[in-house]
Amino acid sequence: MGILQSLTIRRPDDWHLHLRGGSALAAVLGFTTEHFARALIMPNLKPPVTNWDMAWEYYESIRALAKQKGRGLNFKPLMTLYLTDKTTPEDIAEAKKAGLVIAAKLYPANATTNSAEGVTDIKKLVPVFRKMAEVEMVLCIHGETLVSESFGDDTRNGRVGQLRREAVFLKESLKWIVHNFPSLKIVLEHITTREAVRFVEKAPPNVAATITAHHLLETLDAVFESHHNKCMPTLKEEPHRQALLDAATSGNPKFFAGTDSAPHAKSAKETACGCAGCFTAIDALALYATAFEERHALNRLEGFLSDFGADFYGLSRNTDTITIRRQEWKIPNEVPFGDGELLVPFWAGRELHWKTD
Ligand code: DOR
Ligand code: ZN
Repeated sequence: MGILQSLTIRRPDDWHLHLRGGSALAAVLGFTTEHFARALIMPNLKPPVTNWDMAWEYYESIRALAKQKGRGLNFKPLMTLYLTDKTTPEDIAEAKKAGLVIAAKLYPANATTNSAEGVTDIKKLVPVFRKMAEVEMVLCIHGETLVSESFGDDTRNGRVGQLRREAVFLKESLKWIVHNFPSLKIVLEHITTREAVRFVEKAPPNVAATITAHHLLETLDAVFESHHNKCMPTLKEEPHRQALLDAATSGNPKFFAGTDSAPHAKSAKETACGCAGCFTAIDALALYATAFEERHALNRLEGFLSDFGADFYGLSRNTDTITIRRQEWKIPNEVPFGDGELLVPFWAGRELHWKTD
């Protein structure tokens, strides 16, 4: 049997995407609309998208721009609300009633980019979680704990180190949410550790996880090589990457693709304490194919990219297809990012062996 030259799969959805607004949105949107049918749009704008009116306005701005691009007319942004200490059950009910918003995002306060207005105490969200379960809105979680109640071995005077934040969140927060809200659909976003894989495997079927391409392809070492590999949760060591590859290529429908493609201007990355985020949308499918090929698991790519996420969210699977081809090409060193800024893609300047049509 010859080496596989191309792979035609159901058109995928991106279950975790940052598009920003204004000229940045205009610069990056086309990369996603060319390849994906739908994407779950993250709400961590400045100011964050905290209610239905803001979600509607953001949706309209994405649609207006998408229409000007090739396949954009067919692209469907799926919107999210940003949970804060002030979110009410009424905010949830209103957003759900209007359609459009299918999930709410829990950012623990200060865990990542634009999360200062995130949640300081998840226990205060009990009425909100109850309402979400009732109206069937999915809870998407940035699962990292910065300050631990336990002051245990994972902490320095209560501050949790970067490499342990996800594992501590599982123990101190996610376990509690899953236990107390058995009918709430939960997606643990961009998982990075063996512990998270095990947690999701063992959890009931209402708990799933997204996995990014960059966490499947790189380890912590890459963060020391380039500012452009800095992301949250940070890349981890090789055994964790292997656990993520196991999960992604397992065919277990609890694990599906969410790129967390997160563009930041080159100037904002290449500073003493650069922003966290990897821009993978330039050809996310080719990056995922590269990771799956490492495990000789290209036959499992379609489920992970195109089927399991739609099934979990209770949406129909897409009906058209897309082809990823074996082709040598080089990821550009930078692309325009609006207002004279530049954007450096993940793996900039690297040769890839897959390219999406
Ligand atoms: O690396 C990240 N970048 N992780 C996040 O959670 C947020 C994102 C961003 O918005 O830049
Ligand atoms: Zn994100």
